[in-house]
Amino acid sequence: MKEGFKVNLTSLLLSLSESVDMVNQNSPQHQLRTAFIALKLARHLNLDEVTIENIFMASLLHDIGKNNNFEKKINYESQGIRGQIFVQGVPRLREPGKIIRYYFLEWKDWKESDDRSLVISSQIVFLANFVDMIISRDRYILHQVDDILKELMRLEDGVLNNKVLLGFKEISTREEFWFDLISNGLYSILLNDSPIKKNKIDLEELSSIGELFKSIIDFKSKYTITHTTGVSACSEMLGNLFGLTEIEVKILGVAANFHDLGKVVVPNKVLEKKGKLTKEEFEVVKSHPYYTYQVLNSIDGLKQIVHWASYHHERLDGSGYPFHCRAKDLDIGSRIIAVSDIFISKMEKRSYRDEMDKDEIFEIMKKMGRNNLIDTKLVDLLFYNFDIIENFIKIKQEKTLDCYKNYINCKEKEMNKD
Ligand SMILES: [Fe+2]
Ligand SMILES: [Fe+2]
Repeated sequence: MKEGFKVNLTSLLLSLSESVDMVNQNSPQHQLRTAFIALKLARHLNLDEVTIENIFMASLLHDIGKNNNFEKKINYESQGIRGQIFVQGVPRLREPGKIIRYYFLEWKDWKESDDRSLVISSQIVFLANFVDMIISRDRYILHQVDDILKELMRLEDGVLNNKVLLGFKEISTREEFWFDLISNGLYSILLNDSPIKKNKIDLEELSSIGELFKSIIDFKSKYTITHTTGVSACSEMLGNLFGLTEIEVKILGVAANFHDLGKVVVPNKVLEKKGKLTKEEFEVVKSHPYYTYQVLNSIDGLKQIVHWASYHHERLDGSGYPFHCRAKDLDIGSRIIAVSDIFISKMEKRSYRDEMDKDEIFEIMKKMGRNNLIDTKLVDLLFYNFDIIENFIKIKQEKTLDCYKNYINCKEKEMNKD
């Protein structure tokens, strides 16, 4: 992997925003549509460039703290807190994080002027989210505009700021706005019209975004809280011991953080099922590396990561899934993540079995090596260095558990309040 590693931030955020919708079973493209409405409105109101950029990034991730598996009824307060906890590790998302925290607040509850960037930004995202939620997907869009405006005007009294409402009314007169909004090409429209100025991010920044998505994937189920952390730590250790360069090891860690991204499409009732999965259920599970591939593949500059992340269930003899790659297609990075994924999964408790011990896992993995499923060299490397690798993994996983406690606590705190 060459030094000048650069990834397009807009395409990264656009793609990842789609996985936010998948986790929450929102309508497809809800984050994209909210971002489109908010962007158009923010520009129409002549806000400054930095504010527009923050509004755009916040809307693309505004549902990031939502968790349908925890709460059947939406609790915006705890959703906002969790969203902010998630994104605050990425320096560039700190300001957008505040909008994510407060966008649901009604105008009358803001005790500050709308000259303040956070206030106007949050109100814009409020409106954008609201508008997309009331659009019917089954009715011709222009036939809905009057009803949408009527619904909005009901929020005039204290829920939405007048400047924001009026601005929206003005942009809504252009048919093009509505056609763009519901277009299948919305992803490209936003990619070409991105307000993000410093659009290329380096490996460091990509890595912090990988950490953020790792939590979104893993916190989906109580059985996987530290799974990705473990796979990523184990992959980095194996990469190091194998002699990869520092930069390759870092990329490997990022790829591992994204490896189960596609799991957001697998329902929790399948992920957490007690007992063996049926054939049909396993077929659903098989789709997850495919979606990991789909989401990452549309991001500019991520080629290497896409393969390393999406091939973790491939096997050297071609019997893996879903691509049925063979040894020749599986380079060292893909092999390392596959081995790490098996190792970590066996170390973890599942809904249908307890954790397995070292010897048991070693036997299973050695056999897999002998049967030409996974790379024997890596299995040997892993068990030869078992103690230092296990120690490194534990340290990383404990950190993740702390984060998870914060995430849960915010929910409990809010639940007690009502
Ligand atoms: Fe997986
Ligand atoms: Fe995994």
